[in-house]
Parts: sequence; C-alpha cells; structure tokens
Amino acid sequence: MKFFIDTANLAQIKEANDLGILDGVTTNPSLMAKEGIQGTEAILKHYKDICDIVKMPVSAEVISTDFEGMVEEGKKLAALDPNIVVKVPMIKDGIKAIKWFTDNGIKTNCTLVFSAGQAILAAKAGATYVSPFIGRIDDGNWDGIELIEQISHIYNTQGFKTLILAASIRTSLHIVKCAEAGADVCTCPLSSILGLLKHPLTDIGLAQFLEDAKKFA
Ligand code: E4P
Repeated sequence: MKFFIDTANLAQIKEANDLGILDGVTTNPSLMAKEGIQGTEAILKHYKDICDIVKMPVSAEVISTDFEGMVEEGKKLAALDPNIVVKVPMIKDGIKAIKWFTDNGIKTNCTLVFSAGQAILAAKAGATYVSPFIGRIDDGNWDGIELIEQISHIYNTQGFKTLILAASIRTSLHIVKCAEAGADVCTCPLSSILGLLKHPLTDIGLAQFLEDAKKFA
C-alpha cells in the first residue's frame, strides 16, 4: 500500500518526504485555505511548490462544478507539472470531466466518494484513483473500512484498474485497517503516519538496551 500525505503544509510534506516512505500528496480546497493560500495565482504557485518538493503524484482539486469549467481548470493544473493528478468531485459533470481527462492522458482522483456505486462510476470513467472518505463515513455511524473492502472486492472481480485511495483518515489504526481491506493507497495526516511508530514495548525495550549497553561502554 502506498502512503500519501493529506496536507498542503510544506513543512509537513518535507518531514514526511524525509522519512523516505512517502509516495504522494493529496490536497483539497479546505487544506489550502488552512495554509492561508488564497487567489488563483497563489494556489497554482503552491501546487508547483509541492511538486518541486516531491517528485510524486500530487492531487490538485478543481473548484468548478460544470464540465467546461472543470476541464479548463484541470488543463491548467495538469500543465503545472507532470505529477499533477486532477482531483474531481463525484458529481454528474465530474464523471464526464474524468472521462475527458482520461481520454486526453490526464490523471484523475475522483473525490468525495461515499458508496460502492459511486466507486463503480468513477472506475467506468477511467479515474486513476477513487477516494472513499473513511473518517467521514465513520463520523456518520457507518463503517468506512467496510466500504474499502466492498470496493476492493468489486474492482478485483470486475478487473477495474482504478486505484483505491483511502482518504479522510483519522487514526493510525485506520491505516492498518485500510491495508488489510485492500486499499492501494492511504492518504493520511502526518500525525497518523507518525502514530504507526508508537508502541510502549518498543520504548521500554530500547531503554533497557541502552541501559545495558552502558555496562560495556
Ligand atoms: C483527501 O483527498 C480528502 O480531501 C481528505 O482526506 C478529507 O479528509 P477530512 O475528512 O479529514 O477532511
């Protein structure tokens, strides 16, 4: 399973990249706003800055909701860098736009996916990635991991090539469960990635080893 970081924060992207286990970046308009990035020029520059840090797929989201607007925006985003993946919402015009991008060699990430039916449509349109929002599903008292399992089963059965990009990750355990459930990619906040490091027995064991090593120093 590949690891993407879900942020527009350059310092966090650098920190994850320096770990050597990063495979890509996802952003969304809320994450961009959180970093105070406003205005078309500033937003395009920020995407380019991210692409200059990581030579890996970077999802950049369109904010138009009509076919023509999404295609226009997506073309500008894709022209920024070969690693840009155009992120398109799961709406009717979004599906049309994903098909257009697919036919024109532009990679896409179909976002805001909450059901297996939506995931089938995204795959039919040729999306490179489909993003089921695990955490937001859990927030509503449904089971986000079950959706990953269901999509994984359908894609394997039907031979769909679209990659399952588990999004809206809230915890380190989500990452483990997504790996078990067959996600191809998990996009996570830095805190959830670093949380995977933690185990009290590791800390206790290391302290003991270091203590014992002093005896022979
Ligand atoms: C990623 O592509 C999504 O935009 C993101 O994971 C949403 O996460 P949230 O539900 O924590 O906002």
